Amino acid sequence: MEILGIDVGGTGIKSNIVDLKSGNVVNNRFKVKTPIPATPDAVMASLKESIDNFNWKGQQIGIGFPAVIQNGICRTASNIDKAFINFPIDAAFSETLGCEVTVINDADAAGIAEMTFGKGKGVNGTVVFITLGTGIGSAIFHNGVLIPNTEMGHLLYKKSIFEKYASNAARERRKLSWKQWAKDLNVYLNHLNLILTPDLILIGGGISKNFDLYGQYLDVPVRLETASLLNDAGIIGAAMATQKNYIL
Ligand code: BGC
Repeated sequence: MEILGIDVGGTGIKSNIVDLKSGNVVNNRFKVKTPIPATPDAVMASLKESIDNFNWKGQQIGIGFPAVIQNGICRTASNIDKAFINFPIDAAFSETLGCEVTVINDADAAGIAEMTFGKGKGVNGTVVFITLGTGIGSAIFHNGVLIPNTEMGHLLYKKSIFEKYASNAARERRKLSWKQWAKDLNVYLNHLNLILTPDLILIGGGISKNFDLYGQYLDVPVRLETASLLNDAGIIGAAMATQKNYIL
């Protein structure tokens, strides 16, 4: 079965058609910039572009969204417009886009894909999957079961939260070398290890492919690996989320 998966990020909106059985993307990825400001109407217009690009006529669409999504309601808005707070995202997107839309947190989506088709496959115990992009997203699994909306990027750090220091956007904004940036990332990973005692930490998001530039500066006493599905993980997991059994 093929489903359109859309990964809404703080910077870009990426989409593709996903074969749910194999976990493979079927077409070339389509990408548009996240509108500024990313209001509900502006985001919905961008989603329509993605649907039109694939000429998608299917009954379902899965969307990964960079916010806490609880029972179809968007609860937070760190890197998108504040109008999304308490916005009935499943219902509004479904009505505007004319099909059944399922929205879940973007990191949860990418994590689900990585646990099913990537490096997390078959790993028992606690797996902490994090994405280092515009923000820091997290997905925590125990024996393969997701605890949704964990928001580990929002742990307090220095005068703010870890996301403001250890995300890829923070590295770019602060014009840090990989080594300088890795210092904060190392503190972050050690903190996650201390509070969660994971069996595996997986680093996802676009930056996982640059691991050879910063991996040598990390010293964390836990199995630490980069995710394998790279930028497609969020799209694949979003499509998988339409099959509700992936959501607690
Ligand atoms: C948001 C999370 C999201 C992460 C990655 C954070 O700012 O609070 O919900 O998963 O960014 O996009």
